[in-house]
Amino acid sequence: MTKLSLLHTNKRLLLGITGGIAAYKTAEVARLLVQENVDVQTVMTESACRFIGPATLQALTGKIVFTDLWDNRIANNMAHINISRDVDAILIAPASADFIAKLANGFANDLLSTLCLARNCPLFIAPAMNWQMWESPATQRNLAILQRDGVTIFGPVDGAQACGETGMGRMLEAQELVKEIQKFFKPKLLQNKHAVITAGPTYEAIDAIRGITNLSSGKMGYAVANAALEAGAKVTLISGPVCLKAPFGATLINVISAQDMLAAVKKNISSADIFISVAAVADFLPSKISNQKIKRINGNISLNLTPNPDILEYVAGLPKPPFCVGFAAETENLEKNAEAKRRKKKIPLLVANLVPDAISSDESALILLDDKGKHPLSKALKIVQARHIIKHISLLYKK
Ligand code: C5P
Repeated sequence: MTKLSLLHTNKRLLLGITGGIAAYKTAEVARLLVQENVDVQTVMTESACRFIGPATLQALTGKIVFTDLWDNRIANNMAHINISRDVDAILIAPASADFIAKLANGFANDLLSTLCLARNCPLFIAPAMNWQMWESPATQRNLAILQRDGVTIFGPVDGAQACGETGMGRMLEAQELVKEIQKFFKPKLLQNKHAVITAGPTYEAIDAIRGITNLSSGKMGYAVANAALEAGAKVTLISGPVCLKAPFGATLINVISAQDMLAAVKKNISSADIFISVAAVADFLPSKISNQKIKRINGNISLNLTPNPDILEYVAGLPKPPFCVGFAAETENLEKNAEAKRRKKKIPLLVANLVPDAISSDESALILLDDKGKHPLSKALKIVQARHIIKHISLLYKK
């Protein structure tokens, strides 16, 4: 039986090739990666094999190329698990419209799609297709899903296409793709840093079943947690009640009230390098919580409220505070109110946005306020904004 070599050198990449004419460029990608000392394991779909032969990739990478979900050369017959466990990242180049649709919907009907679904490492895709396929609402919808799922998309670019038409959909050139992979393998922006992040709303009980809360969805806080993880940070995410999937790799602590949140922050803050306070903490809590459901009466009743602790101010006021970042959701005078908040809380960076973007939408326009002034970020998906925020933090944090 052939001995399969999934040898480990420095960095290990799974190179997935799907069916598209740009597959011929992927041979060059493989060659350049091998020159960079990257250990490349190729997996091809059936259609990819119609465009370029596995023998080419085998010769360039010095490894057997896998194409079959039922390849019984892997001892436990679980090629889809074993191959993905042995790599630092997966790059799909070219990623066809069909494969993008499969990824977005979690299909697992061939080796490559099954590997992607079973992965525990980052996934990069380099789309390549006819411009009309690229622009079709279905492809754009699928790409938006992949972005939201944390998949990184390299390219495509505008230009001449193999079909003779011109437009968006050319795969990045081999050199450019290799540059992107090199960037990924470089030490990360927040490598070995511990980021404590709060997210979502808090819920302040009035009685056994009623409470005060707000419309925060937690989307921004979870996006910031995902971006910090991508940047190599160890992440503790302290979250109020939300309906979101826990970011893979974060330590998630679920809390209900502002006081719970403060207690969880106090427990975890001593080892934190960075504190990012994204949560929409309720400003007040009822002075008295009734254990029983308060009965309806004819006429008004009044609710006495007490201010909640300000968690961000508490952390920023510690003798040796971590690098503190606040968020401000405003309904008016965004910049003025947000800058006043930054000064009051004595924090180096504050991220300002306007309600309703700030509260539940998937996208937002932001202004980053620091000692140097303002840095506007035009409207984009929250995960895209979160990556900008993490980059900005890493620049300020270094100083
Ligand atoms: O509610 P406000 O606009 O003042 O929030 C500004 C910042 O302060 C946010 O980062 C929020 O997470 C934080 N905050 C807090 N504890 C509170 C209120 C707000 O940490 N009780």
